[in-house]
Amino acid sequence: MWGRYLVVLLLALTPHAILSSELETVYEWKQMVFGFPTDADRQEAIANGNLIPENATPIDVAVDYHSEKGTRVFTTTPRFTTGIPYTLAVVTNTTEDNGPVLMPYPDYSWHNSYGDDCDKITSVYRVAITECNQMFVLDTGAIFTVKHCPPQLLVFDLNTDTLSHRYVFDPSIYTANASLFITPRAIVSDPPPTGNCSNVKVYMTDVTFHGLVVYDSELDAAWRIENRFMYPHPDQGVHTIANQTFILMDGMFALASDQEQLYFHPLASVTEYAVPLSIINNRTNFLDSDVAMPEAFSQVGTRSSSTAAEAMDSQGNLYFVTFNPIKLTYWSPNATYTPENEIEIPADPQLIEFVSGMKVHTNDTGVEELWMLSDRFQEIANGAIDFSEINFRILRRPLDDIQNSD
Ligand SMILES: *[C@@H]1O[C@H](CO)[C@@H](O)[C@H](O)[C@H]1NC(C)=O
Ligand SMILES: *[C@@H]1O[C@H](CO)[C@@H](O)[C@H](O)[C@H]1NC(C)=O
Ligand SMILES: *[C@@H]1O[C@H](CO)[C@@H](O)[C@H](O)[C@H]1NC(C)=O
Ligand SMILES: *[C@@H]1O[C@H](CO)[C@@H](O)[C@H](O)[C@H]1NC(C)=O
Ligand SMILES: *[C@@H]1O[C@H](CO)[C@@H](O)[C@H](O)[C@H]1NC(C)=O
Ligand SMILES: *[C@@H]1O[C@H](CO)[C@@H](O)[C@H](O)[C@H]1NC(C)=O
Ligand SMILES: *[C@@H]1O[C@H](CO)[C@@H](O)[C@H](O)[C@H]1NC(C)=O
Repeated sequence: MWGRYLVVLLLALTPHAILSSELETVYEWKQMVFGFPTDADRQEAIANGNLIPENATPIDVAVDYHSEKGTRVFTTTPRFTTGIPYTLAVVTNTTEDNGPVLMPYPDYSWHNSYGDDCDKITSVYRVAITECNQMFVLDTGAIFTVKHCPPQLLVFDLNTDTLSHRYVFDPSIYTANASLFITPRAIVSDPPPTGNCSNVKVYMTDVTFHGLVVYDSELDAAWRIENRFMYPHPDQGVHTIANQTFILMDGMFALASDQEQLYFHPLASVTEYAVPLSIINNRTNFLDSDVAMPEAFSQVGTRSSSTAAEAMDSQGNLYFVTFNPIKLTYWSPNATYTPENEIEIPADPQLIEFVSGMKVHTNDTGVEELWMLSDRFQEIANGAIDFSEINFRILRRPLDDIQNSD
């Protein structure tokens, strides 16, 4: 199998150096496995219809390399439907037949109110972990399409695993029953060791009502920005992954940044867009109108095929997995973003069917790593998921060989 990829690699990367690292499967599941603090909690969840593992689709991954607590891998499972006992979890090293056992984060009491208590967590699509040992948790407040609570941004201190801040979005920031906040990206302007992490911006996508929300930790305020590039493109709404076709008209979906610009794309699209951070970080620009400054937004590239998640490393390489064919790919900042300039990174396509979560994390030795969660969404969309197969994977790949090959 490796031989086949080596040939692809040589063709794709000439005249780049040969890459040495491989994509590693860190965790894999046939079906999600939910652990509980006590057996009574499990029995209660079963009795109330709150533990239906076949309903669970994990979508994001985030990693905390902590000097004292060790490495913790987090995953999210949005409450698309009933039967999800918790929506944010840490992956344990205990493995059962279907895969490793999850445990609720920060603890079960944050998750088992199912929208009855808006001080708790209702449903999370994705999270962002910063170099300040904090985790931003973006809670939609909704279960399936029912909005129980306003959307909120929670900040957990990963040193103490306690809530350090809560920001509940004002109704002016979203449209009730229409907005869905799914992807946060955080940028720290004053990171350690010199800074004290007081200046963090969190950018968030509204996938269903086509907007971007900026949260500023210094102001403790958020504002909304809309632009025509945040809409899904009807011609790109039909997707094919591993020969299975499905319709997904998701708009504003994924975010990445090189500290100068915010890059973004709708899911139903083959186009990458960007806007300067200096424009969107300035709240004044959008005080009168959330559709202000349309000329600041630009189309920066076109892909060979649509993609879900994306992430950028510190050198400005933009990573994504194309749907059809399935390819782990990056764009270098030195070349224009065209299909011809997509650089393929060798990877078994079976491992990366629908990558819905992607992050670049710096590990304990200072090496940047690409982390991905793949969930075979094409099978789920078509009601064809087979729980005797591996369906969900958390993957990791060091990036130093790619960075040194540029
Ligand atoms: C799982 O094992 C790895 C490797 O030994 C370790 O780094 C990590 O901290 C463990 N995870 C948990 C949640 O204990
Ligand atoms: C939103 O949906 C709920 C039911 O889920 C309904 O009670 C409420 O009136 C709706 N709000 C708006 C603004 O449409
Ligand atoms: C963090 O640093 C900024 C700028 O140096 C300073 O204004 C602020 O008071 C500091 N905050 C804390 C909590 O130390
Ligand atoms: C997709 O279909 C082609 C042609 O029938 C086949 O060769 C290929 O193995 C299929 N791929 C997958 C992932 O099923
Ligand atoms: C923010 O934008 C306003 C105009 O909308 C401009 O007057 C102001 O100088 C900008 N502030 C910064 C810090 O760039
Ligand atoms: C960090 O990355 C280096 C280089 O890939 C690797 O040798 C090391 O094991 C990684 N650390 C952890 C905790 O995985
Ligand atoms: C890419 O651009 C960076 C910064 O402009 C430069 O340092 C690097 O050498 C370039 N790499 C290649 C392969 O041209």
